[in-house]
Amino acid sequence: MCGIVGYVGPQDSLGVVLEGLRRLEYRGYDSAGVAVLADGQLSTAKKAGKLANLEKQLAEADLPAATIGIGHTRWATHGGPTDRNAHPHVSADGRVAVVHNGIIENFVPLRAEVEATGVEFTSETDTEVVAHLLTATYRALPAGPDRLAEAMRAVSRRLEGAFTLVATHADEPDTIVASRRNSPLVVGVGDGEYFLGSDVAAFIGHTRNALELGQDQVVEIDRTRGATVTDFSGNRVEPTAYTVDWDAAAAEKGGYPWFMLKEIAEQPRAVADTLLGRLGESGELVLDEVRLSDQELRDIDKIFVVACGTAFHAGLLAKYAIEHWTRIPVEVEVASEFRYRDPVLDRSTLVVVISQSGETMDSLMALRHARDQKARVLAICNANGSTIPRESDAVLYTHAGPEVAVASTKGFLTQVVACYLVGLFLAQVRGVKYADEIAAIVDDLRALPDAVARVLEQMEPVRELGRSLADANTILFLGRHVGFPVALEGALKLKELAYIHAEGFAAGELKHGPIAVIDQGTPVVVIVPSPRTRESVHGKVVSNIQEVRARGARTIVIAEDGDDDVLPFADHVIRVPRTPTLLAPVVTTVPLQVLACEIADTRGLDVDQPRNLAKSVTVE
Ligand code: F6R
Repeated sequence: MCGIVGYVGPQDSLGVVLEGLRRLEYRGYDSAGVAVLADGQLSTAKKAGKLANLEKQLAEADLPAATIGIGHTRWATHGGPTDRNAHPHVSADGRVAVVHNGIIENFVPLRAEVEATGVEFTSETDTEVVAHLLTATYRALPAGPDRLAEAMRAVSRRLEGAFTLVATHADEPDTIVASRRNSPLVVGVGDGEYFLGSDVAAFIGHTRNALELGQDQVVEIDRTRGATVTDFSGNRVEPTAYTVDWDAAAAEKGGYPWFMLKEIAEQPRAVADTLLGRLGESGELVLDEVRLSDQELRDIDKIFVVACGTAFHAGLLAKYAIEHWTRIPVEVEVASEFRYRDPVLDRSTLVVVISQSGETMDSLMALRHARDQKARVLAICNANGSTIPRESDAVLYTHAGPEVAVASTKGFLTQVVACYLVGLFLAQVRGVKYADEIAAIVDDLRALPDAVARVLEQMEPVRELGRSLADANTILFLGRHVGFPVALEGALKLKELAYIHAEGFAAGELKHGPIAVIDQGTPVVVIVPSPRTRESVHGKVVSNIQEVRARGARTIVIAEDGDDDVLPFADHVIRVPRTPTLLAPVVTTVPLQVLACEIADTRGLDVDQPRNLAKSVTVE
């Protein structure tokens, strides 16, 4: 959601900024713009729609050569996705250009204050007010080496809400400044050049050395003095330096038509990387990075799993595994609801926050609420150095590598695997499972990457099926036990990618309402548990297939190898390898990802960047 790029160095800034924006496209946006500074003048270009529109405008505008510049991809919140509302926003005197990610909640009174001075606004955005405030504040300050940074600090102190702001001033040919509260920003440090980015993808083609910016901090990037970080009061802060372990190639499509297809194909490796170093030689769990003491883990009497969207579905699966292995009660809740419900939390509550990006605002706010209530927070996260793991007591990184497609695939699978690791680790530390029981499950986990690879080898019939479903109006997904969250995930993938109405149901709920929507030919995807699942769950799901088929449904059945009970009632069978009950979602989800991708592609849609969606949702 909104991508920000900044550059100061010897290279052509426009090229660097555009490249950065291209790499941030996956975050989702509906307009884009740039500003460069040369010969004491700011030049801007901005355009609604995709980057290609901006590039077309740039080809006509012929901006001057410059070595300092900022850029933005905007996901509209205040004001529609128009040329006028696109960033950068420039002050009335033309001296300041600003880009912004987030929402400035008190912009209405601030705007009134600025308008009272005679300034006319040219957009409907909350951001423009910052450009006007910055120019006025800068003017009122004495000349000095950090005048622009001081102006940014003064303005930031007045803002409420979430923001990353990056600004340039026409009188400061060697400086850009940025400010951050509740929205992401990282600094890239190259050889005599500096980058700013919403995430490291913005500059990964140039450097892997990065600085983490903390909450309520301002960074000034000066061509000769380098990066100086202060808090909003001007106190110097030593930023944490780190090396990015992704490379540029990992963020490229690698020959696939869509990032999503590449990321689906990477899942065996991603799952293996999540497990790497965490399964000990003797079948024990080794989670050294979980910075909670054994005593703290033993004291836990309740677990909440909090997340959004696909990550929430991973959380639903965590409940089955963690409760079964540890006997600790687990509640799972969408992050946007969590803190409004006043959940009962205390020191002996573990809150597991799952987030691929580590920047989802709803999840971050839930995390802060949990910490305020003294709960312990463990983050399961993919993006290194992001806000959610930084603010948590402990973190388990999924190591899935960069996920660029908006729809999460390898992010999800690795979150599920990380949840298994957490559950088993708790069982081990608390001594509620014998070592040989844990070792047996560890062996099952070790087999998962191969199992996923085998599913991927058999996807051609699924693609063919997807092509035949491209005109469907509605597709339903049914599952029981761990198949239920998989059904929810299958439906979400289809909705977001193919814009087809889809719903996931607990198969047992069918007769309590949903069965009424089944009509002649309605496609129904059923995730069938293993025949070895306890309490004849398998038999009940087979009955559910018969029930929907009897009402005209076209049944698409995902069943494990050798399960022939489903054959008489299935119009299509998708086979997955035999996998232990609790781990089965790691294999049964994969065909649903491929199916959604193929249907969207057949419908001619942008698989990687579905309409209206953003990769990381950094507003509440
Ligand atoms: C769906 C999807 C979203 C995210 C959700 C949370 O494919 O990607 O539903 O799962 O926005 O994102 P993270 O995991 O970054 O917190």
